[in-house]
Amino acid sequence: MVRTGIVGWGITDPAVIEVMGNVPRHAFVPEEYLSQAYNNHPLPIGYGQTISQPYIVALMTEALDLENGDRVLEIGTGSGYQAAVLAELGIDVYTIEIIGPLAETATMRLQELGYTNVMVRHGDGYYGWEEHARFDAIIVTAAPDHVPQPLLEQLKIGGVMVIPVGPVGGYQELWHITRQDEENYQSVSMGGVRFVPLTREVREE
Ligand SMILES: C[S@@+](CC[C@H](N)C(=O)[O-])C[C@H]1O[C@@H](n2cnc3c(N)ncnc32)[C@H](O)[C@@H]1O
Repeated sequence: MVRTGIVGWGITDPAVIEVMGNVPRHAFVPEEYLSQAYNNHPLPIGYGQTISQPYIVALMTEALDLENGDRVLEIGTGSGYQAAVLAELGIDVYTIEIIGPLAETATMRLQELGYTNVMVRHGDGYYGWEEHARFDAIIVTAAPDHVPQPLLEQLKIGGVMVIPVGPVGGYQELWHITRQDEENYQSVSMGGVRFVPLTREVREE
C-alpha cells in the first residue's frame, strides 16, 4: 500500500511515509472488510461513515507540515485512523466525533493500541475545542459547505488548516488555509475530493 498508493501517488515526506507503514489500518476497519484493509480506498465503518482512503490521509497529513510536539485538532474522528497517523508523528491530537458510538469505539481502539497522546471528544466539531485552542494545525475530515468561523479563530498565526468544502453529495474542493495574522488567511486549493458531509446533529446512538 505504501509503495504503490502513498509513494507511488506522490507523497514525499519521509516521516509521513514511515508512519503510513507503521499504523495498522486493519485495526481500524470492521471485520468484514479486513481483507481490503490495505487497499487504497475508503471503507465503510458503520453509521453511513467511512475510514478515509490512505492516500488522502497521507496527503492531508503531509500538507499540515507538522513538527514533533505540535497540537492538532481533528474534526471527524471516525475510526480513529487519521488520529493514529498524527499520533505516530509525535503530535498531541484533539479529535471530535459527532456520532457517539464511533467516538466510543475510536477511544477504546486508540487506548488499546497505546496511543496516549490522543484525546477524543463526542460533539459537534463545528465549534472546535476552545479549551485547547489555539492549534498548530486543524484537519477536517468531513465536508462543510463553508469554512467554520470558530475553526479559523482557533488556528495559531502561521498555522495550517486542511479542509474539504463543498455541497452535500457532490465533489468538494480541498483547501489549504494558512493563518497569516489575526485577520488574514491565505487559501490555496489542493484539488477535488469526495468526503462525507459535516453534519450538525449530535447523535448519541
Ligand atoms: C470520512 S469520516 C472520517 C474518517 C476518520 N478521520 C478516520 O480516520 O477514520 C468523517 C467523520 O466525520 C464525522 N462528522 C461529521 N460531521 C461532524 C461534526 N460536525 N463534528 C464532528 N464529527 C463530524 C462523521 O460522523 C464521520 O465519522
